[in-house]
Formats: sequence, C-alpha cells, structure tokens
Amino acid sequence: MKTIYLDHGATSFPKPPAVGRRMKEYVDEIGANINRSVYGPAQQAGMVVLRLRQRLGELFGLSDPTHVILTPGNTWSLNMLLWGALRPGDHCLVSSMEHNAVMRPLQQLALCGVQFDRVPCDGQGRLDPARLEEMLRPNTRLVVMAHGSNVCGAVQDAEEIGKICAAHGVPFCLDGAQTGGHLPVDFQSMNLSALAVPGHKGLLGPQGIGALLLHPDFAAALTPWATGGTGSVSDSEFPPAYLPDRFEPGTPNLPGAYGWEAALDYLQSVTIDQARAHDRFLSQRFLDGLRGMAGAVLLGPDGVENRVGVFSLDFPGQDNAQVAFRLEEEFGILTRCGLHCAPSAHQTLGTFPRGTVRFSFGLSTNPEEVDYALEAIDAVRAG
Ligand SMILES: Cc1ncc(COP(=O)(O)O)c(C=O)c1O
Repeated sequence: MKTIYLDHGATSFPKPPAVGRRMKEYVDEIGANINRSVYGPAQQAGMVVLRLRQRLGELFGLSDPTHVILTPGNTWSLNMLLWGALRPGDHCLVSSMEHNAVMRPLQQLALCGVQFDRVPCDGQGRLDPARLEEMLRPNTRLVVMAHGSNVCGAVQDAEEIGKICAAHGVPFCLDGAQTGGHLPVDFQSMNLSALAVPGHKGLLGPQGIGALLLHPDFAAALTPWATGGTGSVSDSEFPPAYLPDRFEPGTPNLPGAYGWEAALDYLQSVTIDQARAHDRFLSQRFLDGLRGMAGAVLLGPDGVENRVGVFSLDFPGQDNAQVAFRLEEEFGILTRCGLHCAPSAHQTLGTFPRGTVRFSFGLSTNPEEVDYALEAIDAVRAG
C-alpha cells in the first residue's frame, strides 16, 4: 500500500530535491560559520544567507533584507515578538483561533502583568475586523494573529485588520505559518509591523529555521529576547544596535539556510500565484467531494474563498483518533488528529476537547490523492 501524505499543515513533504542536496553540500563542502571568520568558504556561506534574506524580503514585500531576521523557527519568532514588544501593563489582542505558539507565551507574559484579550471568531473561524476595532484599548500595544488557521484553514482579512491597526497606531503582527508559500502575504498592503514564518511548511524548506520580518519602526522599539555572541561589536557586552545582528545571537542554522534558499528558488519558479491556484483547485475538489457525506462533518469555511487547504473533519459517534488510525492502517493516508496545538481554536469551532481529523494539502499533493482521500473518508465515516 502506498503512503499518501496529507499533513502539510504540520510540515511540507517531500521537499524539492535541491533542498537536501544543498544542505548536504554545505555540510560536506563548506562547513564554515558566517560573520566570524573571513576566509573564502565563510564568505560563500555569508552570501547564501544574504540571498536568503533577500528572497524572503522580496516574497513578502519588505525592502530591507537586514530586517529579515533568521530564527530557529516560527515558535521562536513569535516568542521574540511577544517577549520583545510587551511590557507589564501593556495589552495585546489576538484572535480566538491562535496556535499555542502565541497563546503559551502570552499566558507566561500574563504572569508578568501583560494583559490580553481574544477577539471571538465565528463558527467558521473568521474574525470580524469591526469587532477587533471595538476591543482595542488605549494600552493595546500589539495585535497578533494567525493569518490562516492551522485547524480549519480559515484566513483572516489581514488587509482590513492592518488598516484598522494603522489608523489606531497599533502594531499589527501576523503569524504566517499556514499562509506563507500558499498565498500572497504582503507587508505593505497589510500594514504589517512584523511577520513570522517557518521555513518548513509552505515555504518548503527544512525544519529548524524560520524568519521574523520586521518593519523598521517596530524593530526600533523591540527588545532582543535572546542575546549572545554575534561576531560583531565584540568589544561590547551589549547586543549590537543594528539589524540583523541585534536579533540573531549565536551560530545560525547554516545547513537550514542553504536548504531554505534552494526551496525558495523552487517556489519562485512555481510562483505564489500558481501555488495559490493549486491550493484552491484541490480545496474545491475536496469540498465538492465532501458534500452530502453524512457522518463526516467539515469545520471551517465551506468554500474556497478566505481559506487555505487545511481541513478539519469531525466524525460524530466515532473516536477521531481511531478514524485517523484507520486512515493510515487501511488506506495509507497520513493525517493529524487531536487539538493541533490550538485549544482556543477548537473552543471556537465547538470541537474542544474532542479534536478533529485534519487533512492538509501542499504543492506536491495531486488531485488523485484528494480523490483517494475522499473515497477513504466515505469508507470510514460509517464507523
Ligand atoms: C498557525 C501556527 N502558528 C505557529 C506554529 C508553530 O510553528 P513551528 O512549530 O514551526 O514553530 C504552527 C505550527 O503548526 C502553526 O500552525
């Protein structure tokens, strides 16, 4: 039985072949650190990292590559953002659909005197920007939210929310974990102050690397969350004042940078518009196939507008974990079951603490796999 990987919301697989090739090339043939030594291989690696920053900046509409901060991943980026921006007495607004990569740091910050509120989303996981505007307070210092839900694929109206935040002078920061590489995300039109993206999901890179893109005004007010050696300003025991060094302590993930640069090269050749069209095509096919299937209840948007190809299904009367197990055992289909690190999102959708079975598509998913998944769902829905 072949294996069908439908867990791209967790991580993309397989990666473009150049990703692994370039990582191996770095480990076997380059090996040098950047920003420390000045010999040839170190400079070569430094150029790859610079190109990576440039590609990310181009992809997301941020002109200055020095403000593309490379991090060990999206959770790290979000922690940098939250811990670096919020002080005791500050207020932060999030949506009710957030991942624990936002909620857990916020709960820790609440222990230190930071306040936060969740803007309630509707039963499909969508946030009403007008409701967010009503909930802004004089001490609101940050609005942070997942652009796309990792539970049900709902995509928030980032342009409208960005306008509201700009009008009130509140920084707007987006968690692009489920939308980066799947649809256009643009710093300018969304009025973003910061954007966090992981390398390993829709951006097709390896695990263990991510980026935090910073608007210069926002960066100027951000405190470094982690500090250490940078290979620069070494006469001082304080972090450098300039970016990216200020926010990039320690030896970076260079195999990851090589792999990610190759992944972005590939993505650039496909184009985000094509990736978006592919995602919509598969989503439409999946939604059409699900229609009329009693016993498999779809959560989240039931059309292709305002969504990405991440779908949660509930199988009432059955144990969803058991359903996911059967999908693998009997059909070779790899999905994810449970709460997907987002209890608040499941509370919003009415599936807490039961959880759901999540099917998520990527660039390498083909229509036959979607059809096969539909056949499998049809077979397991009866119990
Ligand atoms: C919406 C969202 N935010 C944050 C994260 C955390 O990303 P990572 O585990 O790559 O750090 C995820 C991962 O699933 C996610 O889906």
